[in-house]
Amino acid sequence: MADDKKTATLSFGGKTLDLPIYTPTLGPDVIDISKLYAQGDVFTYDPGFTSTAACESTITFIDGEEGVLLHRGYPIDQLAAESHYLEVCYLLLYGELPTGAQLEDFEARVTHHTMLHEQMRNFFSGFRRDAHPMAVMVGIVGAMSAFYHDSTDISDPWQREVASIRLIAKMPTIAAWAFKYHTGQPFVYPRNDLDYASNFLRMCFSVPAEEYEVNPILSRAMDRIFTLHADHEQNASTSTVRLASSSGANPFACIAAGIACLWGPAHGGANQACLEMLKEIGTVDRIPEFIARAKDKNDPFRLMGFGHRVYKNFDPRATVMKQSADEVLELLGVEDNPILQVAKELEKQALADPYFHDKKLFPNVDFYSGIILEAMGFPTSMFTPIFAVSRTVGWISQWKEMLNDPAQRIGRPRQLYVGAEKRDYVDVENR
Ligand code: CMC
Repeated sequence: MADDKKTATLSFGGKTLDLPIYTPTLGPDVIDISKLYAQGDVFTYDPGFTSTAACESTITFIDGEEGVLLHRGYPIDQLAAESHYLEVCYLLLYGELPTGAQLEDFEARVTHHTMLHEQMRNFFSGFRRDAHPMAVMVGIVGAMSAFYHDSTDISDPWQREVASIRLIAKMPTIAAWAFKYHTGQPFVYPRNDLDYASNFLRMCFSVPAEEYEVNPILSRAMDRIFTLHADHEQNASTSTVRLASSSGANPFACIAAGIACLWGPAHGGANQACLEMLKEIGTVDRIPEFIARAKDKNDPFRLMGFGHRVYKNFDPRATVMKQSADEVLELLGVEDNPILQVAKELEKQALADPYFHDKKLFPNVDFYSGIILEAMGFPTSMFTPIFAVSRTVGWISQWKEMLNDPAQRIGRPRQLYVGAEKRDYVDVENR
């Protein structure tokens, strides 16, 4: 880390403490409060971690005011336009863009781990057919620790590497099979001659009864969706993975925890919630009614796909996603799609409204992703599983970084206790 020559002085209750300040490569300075309790006998209070850096990281940087997202220093718009998902995976995992030979080797390793242990098929049939695919994914990924014993020892760098490759490689197969199980169609096995995105589309949409040709434009759009969601710094699901692994839990259990966190509508579940909202709005003339509801403090309704904890100007992923939506819908000949019209008009009206402007609420990545995914043929229930497939590499990169960090300790937040003071137990007949 860090130049610790600067200090912040904190005075309270007759004490004065000098706290080191660290200067990051990019972003605001960070005050080190780790010794605050030992030296000052106080905790800090920061619900939702809005001002707290919980770790040191070299992977992803976000400037929310400027709408900047960098992976290992490279801007997301350049990666989305010029790179592809597996190359970005390599970059996130190992810190540098690969050479041609390194990329070929990495792609071969991922490609040759895409099949699931055959016995895992039985696991799927234990679920109800109408189970949400995210519920299936939490279960199946957690169950991987029961099938891949040779990659659960986190103290062994080789096992960590194998677990990483297995997770990135198998996640599309798991998501596609959750989809197939839901629709009642036979599972489709991965094919080693296809790229990552094409393989996923084929496992989702082909059936044994006929040939399936992957459309290269749809495959490119799928790859871009994976790329745009690959990592996002210390968001809720990534922090969940870090917290779970801080206890020494195995990688499959930790990633299952990340999937569970991602599911919520404030996080990865927003893409499903957003498309459902756009459909509920239905026609452009109903937009004002929904904007009024979003502004009403007595109504819990929020505009899904709007707002972000970190981005306060624009979400750079949303810009790329909007372009992709236009391209995909044009290719599919549905550019007059009524949901896209509602989305575009809603964006326009909300951005012109002082409420959204003043609170710095802008469309986020999930505002347009659902429109593309639906046009490709995915039901809304598959939107968050696709986010989970994409984010797996981010979770793993952060997990590996954390295990190599000498400062790593079990995560154990403190609290501001406001409950009852000590009191004596009272027998039931005397209460
Ligand atoms: N619609 C209407 N009002 C909103 C919205 C919204 N989508 N988002 C925030 N606000 C208001 C909120 O009511 C609050 O108002 P006030 O200050 O008067 O109480 C203010 O804006 C700040 O909101 P917050 O909840 O304190 O902000 P946060 O940083 O805790 O929450 C968020 C960020 C993304 C959870 C929130 O904006 C939200 O719920 N958005 C909708 C869900 C969504 O699209 N999530 C996807 C995020 S991007 C994908 C990902 O990374 O997972």
